[in-house]
Amino acid sequence: MSMQLNTTHTAGCLDFMPQLPAAPVHLIVADPPYFRVLLQEAWDNQWPDEAAYLDWSLRWLREAMRLLVPGGLLYVFGQVGKREHLWLHLQSRACAEFSFHDLIIWDRAVGTNE
Ligand SMILES: C[S@@+](CC[C@H](N)C(=O)[O-])C[C@H]1O[C@@H](n2cnc3c(N)ncnc32)[C@H](O)[C@@H]1O
Repeated sequence: MSMQLNTTHTAGCLDFMPQLPAAPVHLIVADPPYFRVLLQEAWDNQWPDEAAYLDWSLRWLREAMRLLVPGGLLYVFGQVGKREHLWLHLQSRACAEFSFHDLIIWDRAVGTNE
C-alpha cells in the first residue's frame, strides 16, 4: 500500500501501519488509549492487564518509528495524572529502544477539561 496525502484511514493501528512502506513520514502525532482511564470506553479497556497494554504500546511504537524518515519526530500524548506508573514504564521501555528528545507537560487540571 502506498501512502496517500490528505486522506483519513479508519483502522486498527497494528492492522494499518504494517501495510505502509518504511520511512515516508516526517511527523507522527499519536493520542493513544491510556489504559483504563475511561472505564466506559471499550477501546480503553481492551487489554487484560498492564503488561498486555505495554506490549501493545511498544508494538505500535515500533511500527510508528519504522515509518519515520531519519530525524523524523513522533509525539505521543500521555496522561501522568491518573496512571503515572504505567506511563513511566512505557516511557522507560520506549527510551530503551528509541532516541528520546523532550518531555512536554501541559500543566492543567485533569478530568473536567477546565
Ligand atoms: C485518548 S483517545 C484519542 C482521542 C482523540 N485525540 C480525540 O480528540 O478524539 C484514544 C483513541 O485511540 C483509538 N484507538 C483505540 N484502539 C486503537 C487501535 N488499536 N488502533 C487505532 N486507534 C485506536 C480510540 O478509538 C480513541 O479514539
